[in-house]
Amino acid sequence: MIDVDELMEMGLLSGLLRVAWTAGIFPILIALMPSSRLDSVREIISGFAKRGKIMQSSTTRLTVPQKYFCHFYVVGVLWTTLLLVANWWYAYKMTPYMSETMLYASVISYLTGSSDTSSFEFHSESTNQKNKVLQSVFLLLLMEAHVLRRLYETMYIFKYSPSARMHIFGYLTGLYFYTAAPLSLCCTSAPDVFKFVINWIEEFTFRGENQMTINKFNEWEIIVPLVRQRWYTWIGAGLFSWGWIHQRRCHAILGMLRKNKTQAEAYVIPGGDWFNQVSSPHYLAEIVIYGGLLVASGCAEPTIWLLFSFVVANLLLAAVETHRWYLCKFENYPSHRRAIIPFVY
Ligand SMILES: NC(=O)c1ccc[n+]([C@@H]2O[C@H](COP(=O)([O-])OP(=O)(O)OC[C@H]3O[C@@H](n4cnc5c(N)ncnc54)[C@H](OP(=O)(O)O)[C@@H]3O)[C@@H](O)[C@H]2O)c1
Repeated sequence: MIDVDELMEMGLLSGLLRVAWTAGIFPILIALMPSSRLDSVREIISGFAKRGKIMQSSTTRLTVPQKYFCHFYVVGVLWTTLLLVANWWYAYKMTPYMSETMLYASVISYLTGSSDTSSFEFHSESTNQKNKVLQSVFLLLLMEAHVLRRLYETMYIFKYSPSARMHIFGYLTGLYFYTAAPLSLCCTSAPDVFKFVINWIEEFTFRGENQMTINKFNEWEIIVPLVRQRWYTWIGAGLFSWGWIHQRRCHAILGMLRKNKTQAEAYVIPGGDWFNQVSSPHYLAEIVIYGGLLVASGCAEPTIWLLFSFVVANLLLAAVETHRWYLCKFENYPSHRRAIIPFVY
């Protein structure tokens, strides 16, 4: 019988995530197609995705308050933290087995022919494995910085109007998203980390805390994931930070639009920062943030490409609806403002 870690090793996790992201992207692409024949399909799909000001429906059937957005980030913070700790711990534990000295020794013996090739292959495979987990730790750290800020904003910065709602389908999609997104970021190391954690739990239950093998704690090895990264990971981190900073600013602008309780349901034209160019700069910033994660991953993992594509498709649809809403609601809406891509769209 095949067990869970064998299935993970066979790429089951990445496969499932890819199927799920593709299944999410496909209907949104249909809704984005400018064909009048697809109007009824578009209506249904965007009905599921609508929330807040663009959900102008008198019925509250199958909807939840928009302030439930904070549930996404509670899930996101807990799950990302768990994955981050497990990956970081695994990276730390595997470091002594793959020290630079050992690696150089095996390369030299391989080049001089004084050793069999299997030793070299073992070390290059281990180095690959280690690079994967170090990268996962770094990507999860960036994701943690994102979901922590979003949790804070939903609780203390945004002033959700009491009547703002979202479709239950959008709510469930959000909960799925913040489970699948952190997992996608570490999908290349997840099977190894999963096996490592299971082994540790088994050892812990079997031997008890006092009998566990304890290695000397080396604080320098702990910070390895923060420093030993490839050049493209730093470029990705820069892009991520650019999006992160602008999204924080745009969210602060949105949070300040309702100055007192009498304006709890009021909508006004926002201005400042990227709002001067587009109607949904916070969505644009989110795309930049996930673009940063994709670049930081080295753009080689199809699951992360699909995660990025889902974010782009989802936010394009929301931005088109938001822009249409602004144009209908405000006669004096700035005509040069685009929906989401400055000067273009
Ligand atoms: N990764 C993804 O796939 C994904 C998906 C969805 C959202 N997100 C991110 O989550 C963040 C929030 O998204 P959202 O759709 O909830 O944003 P939103 O609809 O713009 O709402 C954010 C907050 O600002 C208020 N607001 C918006 N426009 C306003 C205006 N003109 N006047 C006064 N108040 C206004 C809203 O009020 P109401 O309470 O009245 O609506 C709400 O409290 C975004 O940065 C987005 O990128 C990401």
